Amino acid sequence: NQSTPIKQILQGLYRDDIVKVQGLVRTFRQSKNVAFIAINDGSTFESLQVVLGDGLGDNLYEQLGTGAALEIEGTVVASPAAGQSWELQATDLRITGPAGSEYPLQKKRHSLEYLRSIGHLRPRTNTFNAVFRLRSFVSHAIHRYFEQRGFYWMHTPIITANDCEGAGEQFRVTTLPRITSDDDFGQDFFGQPASLTVSGQLEGEALATALGKIYTFGPTFRSENSNTSRHLAEFWMIEPEVAFADLDDMLDLAEDFIISIVQQVLEHCQSELNFFEQFVESGLLQKLQAVSREPFARITYSDAVAILQKCGEDFEYPVQWGADLQAEHERYLCENHMGKPVFVTDYPADIKAFYMKLSDDERTVRAMDLLLPGIGEIIGGSQREDRHDVLKKRMEQFGIDCHAMSWYLELRRFGNQPHAGFGLGLERLLQYLSGMGNIRDVIPFPRAPRQI
Ligand code: 4AD
Ligand code: MG
Repeated sequence: NQSTPIKQILQGLYRDDIVKVQGLVRTFRQSKNVAFIAINDGSTFESLQVVLGDGLGDNLYEQLGTGAALEIEGTVVASPAAGQSWELQATDLRITGPAGSEYPLQKKRHSLEYLRSIGHLRPRTNTFNAVFRLRSFVSHAIHRYFEQRGFYWMHTPIITANDCEGAGEQFRVTTLPRITSDDDFGQDFFGQPASLTVSGQLEGEALATALGKIYTFGPTFRSENSNTSRHLAEFWMIEPEVAFADLDDMLDLAEDFIISIVQQVLEHCQSELNFFEQFVESGLLQKLQAVSREPFARITYSDAVAILQKCGEDFEYPVQWGADLQAEHERYLCENHMGKPVFVTDYPADIKAFYMKLSDDERTVRAMDLLLPGIGEIIGGSQREDRHDVLKKRMEQFGIDCHAMSWYLELRRFGNQPHAGFGLGLERLLQYLSGMGNIRDVIPFPRAPRQI
């Protein structure tokens, strides 16, 4: 009862064989003695042409409209039609579910906004088929990358009591009341405050001190009420953490990692990339090929500020040492000034998180952001503060409860080791690889303000 992926049929692996395919009707048309179905099963965005000869299924024609689900048996033959090499001469046809005329995805192009409002059906379009196949491939490629280099994949908690980034962007976890009295509403996690994790880094650090090289790959949550094309309330983050490593090691790792993923996508996702090139971002292939070859630029925050101050551009936000770089500044740096991915390092201590290692100048930290043309920040990372007393002082300055976080400080008391890591947002990487403009269109079911 096995069906054959349409992708393999179109690759020519089943010449003259009898196969069964299962999928959805993309188009149906009939002429005098013959009818044609274009069927798609998600294995490729191309559809297989099925020929219904000898009146096969002619009593079912009414149910064969776009969106109907079918099982078809037939013989794979070389196609006489232009634009396709193979087609299926059907011998048996079964409709498992018709779709009818109210099916929202009739054969025409729909706007991405509209498709976002039908999240349960949009995976059936070519665009989302391709995006989600890419997402799966990239996720596997990321795991392969780290596994091949001796990293252990670690699961860090989703429910947590710490605020890793200290930015107050957490969703609180509460228990639903069992008794419906007002007093009971919104209890905390068994009597203790808890929230959804914004990052697995702090737990990742504890694991790296024992296992050497680890990475996390899981969902993270931020309640930033920002309606941008780069922010989600729920996104997937990859966070490697390496013991006995410094910031330069992380720049090298991040660069090698991004280039490796881009190369694998270029090699293995050709049909998806060609589709994105044609319908989503022209120039995508050239962009990815260039990135997969050249080293990234590396500049310090102070140099970046000097470049931005000298460039004569009319920015909306002023550029001044000590202020965070805005999206427009990041864009100028990697798109106009460098024309390629840029690492910006050594940010002012005051605008970065408490755990980053303070430099000897005592005003910058050993932090890095990777900026990509067209995307902006895709990675944030740092060498971690490994001096117990300096860390404690920084935590006090940031108003962090050192008692509750004593476990984190203890990592610096027992078997202390220099270490460093970074976090990559999977969805931003997918935007870069596909050209999709809105981050809500690279995750199957986006979570964002007014989108749940
Ligand atoms: O720069 P961030 O906040 O860094 C951290 O969370 C560190 N703890 C990482 C580490 O050192 N282990 O986030 C890292 C990346 C960003 O560069 C961005 O790609 C992504 O996570 N990101 C988001 N992606 C989508 N929606 C959001 N709201 C995001 N916030 C961050
Ligand atoms: Mg960041």
